[in-house]
Amino acid sequence: MEYDTNDTWRRSSSPKFEDKKCKPLPRRSTTTAVIVLGLAVLSCLMGYCVLSETLPYESKTLRLVIILFRHGARAPVSSYKSDPFKNYQWPDGLGSLTNAGKVQLYELGRKYRMYYANFIPEEYQEKDVYIRSSDSSRCLMSAYTFLAGLYPPSERQIWHPELLWQPIPVHSLPRELDNVVAATKSCNSWKTMYQALLAENNADPKYAELFDSLSKYTNQSMRSILDVDFLFSTLQAQQEAGLKLPEWTRNVFPTKMKQPFMLSLALLSYNESLQRLHTGPLLNNIRTHLQEAVTHTNMDRALYIYSGHDVNLVSLMRALGHTDLLEPEYGASILLELHEEVEQDTFYIKLFYRNNTKVEVPMEIRIPFCTEPCTYEKFIEHLGTLIPTDWEGECQN
Ligand SMILES: *[C@@H]1O[C@H](CO)[C@@H](O)[C@H](O)[C@H]1NC(C)=O
Ligand SMILES: *[C@@H]1O[C@H](CO)[C@@H](O)[C@H](O)[C@H]1NC(C)=O
Ligand SMILES: *[C@@H]1O[C@H](CO)[C@@H](O)[C@H](O)[C@H]1NC(C)=O
Repeated sequence: MEYDTNDTWRRSSSPKFEDKKCKPLPRRSTTTAVIVLGLAVLSCLMGYCVLSETLPYESKTLRLVIILFRHGARAPVSSYKSDPFKNYQWPDGLGSLTNAGKVQLYELGRKYRMYYANFIPEEYQEKDVYIRSSDSSRCLMSAYTFLAGLYPPSERQIWHPELLWQPIPVHSLPRELDNVVAATKSCNSWKTMYQALLAENNADPKYAELFDSLSKYTNQSMRSILDVDFLFSTLQAQQEAGLKLPEWTRNVFPTKMKQPFMLSLALLSYNESLQRLHTGPLLNNIRTHLQEAVTHTNMDRALYIYSGHDVNLVSLMRALGHTDLLEPEYGASILLELHEEVEQDTFYIKLFYRNNTKVEVPMEIRIPFCTEPCTYEKFIEHLGTLIPTDWEGECQN
């Protein structure tokens, strides 16, 4: 069957594979399974019951996995005028991935290693996986630590006895050219629409009181939900780093600031017009990955990993029809799986969300524009409505 050796882990769609008897799993997977089971039993005893049978994930139909995650915990990107930690020395500078953030993504990589023990080959091979990151240092570093957890070197791959780590390539484009992962490449028509929408929301009277109070406490002008967004992220990063936030924040953080913060993330891909320009190129990549798997034009590559930011997760969720406001935590991830029902000759898509790096098993979520199971055709049709054929042209660049 499909999962037992490194060369046959990508199964063909030919049904004759079905008659092969189950061979034992590779030793390490068995060991992993035993450890996982043990942990699961232990967690049950401690009151956190995990569905042990879902770890590692057993699936004969799985063909392709696409993961988009947010980077790990980071130092604040900005400060504010009355910030008591304005001169705090972040050891690696503003916006950098912290050691806690490195651990988060390493753990996430290990969790996916265990979860997909029967799908992702134990040994890293370039042909199997492609990793793309936003060009910001914290995303690149998150990708590297994730990969350290996902692909510890096999015996053959150990190249230094003191370093149980192997280099794995992470691809990225400079921010000004990246319209796929970070979606930071400039797009004129998107910008015009986004600014109109932002102005409209900033004028909403329901934020007047919050803006007044934040302006007073920060001693700077806070008149936009984008200002609230930045302040929220700063306070969150400081709190995450164990700093004691000033007293005034108690009344507004996270409580009153959370809704405008989440709305600010959502505005970038608020409606279909914005989604086409902001998320269309990523959807185009996803469509290509799925198409190649379905048409068998790229049989080896069965794992695509994207390392991005909170807004990128929000944008993908919105483009997939989930318009509830969302606050992706550090290391949160979205999973898309392509499955094949060999007998019926159909492919279908599953969507999962993992709120943070502590969650044991990704939670399957409904795909709103699809009935279950969501067929590949239906999924691709929806993506097609949001993918510009001429992105530069639609952007009026
Ligand atoms: C999306 O919002 C922008 C800005 O308000 C607007 O110009 C555009 O027409 C909207 N698109 C749709 C499909 O509603
Ligand atoms: C706010 O800023 C003004 C000038 O910009 C300054 O005089 C005042 O002391 C500041 N207040 C606080 C609470 O930081
Ligand atoms: C995780 O996310 C799901 C769906 O977005 C939500 O229902 C659930 O409450 C979240 N759990 C936590 C602990 O945030």
